Amino acid sequence: MRLKGAVVAITGASSGIGEATALEFARKGARLALGARRLDRLNAVAEKCRQKGAPDVSTRRLDVGRNADARAFVAAALRDHERIDVLVNNAGLGWMGRLHEMPEEKVEELLATNLAGVIACTQAALPPMLERRRGVIINVASVVGFRAAPYSAVYSATKYAVVGLSHALRGELSGTGVKVCVVYPASTKTEFFDHTEAPIGPQYSASWVARLIVRTARFPRRDAIVAPYRLVHLTEPVFGGLVDHSMGEARRLASPGLSGRGLPPSKP
Ligand SMILES: NC(=O)c1ccc[n+]([C@@H]2O[C@H](COP(=O)([O-])OP(=O)(O)OC[C@H]3O[C@@H](n4cnc5c(N)ncnc54)[C@H](OP(=O)(O)O)[C@@H]3O)[C@@H](O)[C@H]2O)c1
Repeated sequence: MRLKGAVVAITGASSGIGEATALEFARKGARLALGARRLDRLNAVAEKCRQKGAPDVSTRRLDVGRNADARAFVAAALRDHERIDVLVNNAGLGWMGRLHEMPEEKVEELLATNLAGVIACTQAALPPMLERRRGVIINVASVVGFRAAPYSAVYSATKYAVVGLSHALRGELSGTGVKVCVVYPASTKTEFFDHTEAPIGPQYSASWVARLIVRTARFPRRDAIVAPYRLVHLTEPVFGGLVDHSMGEARRLASPGLSGRGLPPSKP
């Protein structure tokens, strides 16, 4: 995939990994359609993207958990930019604590945002991609999408679901020219943990994850993991045969000194 002039739609681009991904695609000269709920933040990101070299950036208020919103975001991107070459399903949120103490509305919000939002945006973006026989869908899951973390039961479940969705769809789309890839970040320094008091340990930078997402868009042949080597090594039996090529990728990207400890519970 040539990124200069490519149209890239990114959900959850107002902060963290989504913002860093938008900036990284902007540096490559991509045209951008950005969505998130905080339009002021999103417009500020759009301005930075223009300064970095994106020739054409549109923004739209988006709550991916609302099916109509997700479909309208994709429709607006198609209207504004004529096509979508890359869809990055990045919008997501977490909640840490014991499952039986998790408020019902938080359960619903996580399922709607992290899973239903990915499904809705993908369903809307697929028909024109299939018609053009061209397109890349990148789903931002998490390392807890293959190794679940205690005190993140619903979050882990949504990320496992995103991985299942992606791999099923990859088979379904085989031979169509449309590719589906999963990116599995480990703990990354963003606003994601702002609402928890849990100590979080060493973290990757959002720009590090963003560079991997951009590389995945250029070479959409395999999934990619950003994780400490020890974590990836421990899960190799689980991953073997599933996305085995990404193991080499993870080894290459692993930063020495990071540990693969699980996350502790949030304080009440
Ligand atoms: N940080 C980590 O350690 C880590 C590790 C593994 C995976 N991830 C995944 O990486 C992705 C990005 O998270 P992040 O770390 O960059 O956190 P972040 O800084 O909190 O960013 C989350 C983004 O998602 C957007 N968002 C949340 N709910 C949304 C909704 N209903 N509709 C549209 N946009 C919504 C937020 O924008 P608005 O609030 O403006 O809507 C924001 O732009 C998530 O899918 C997360 O699960 C993160």
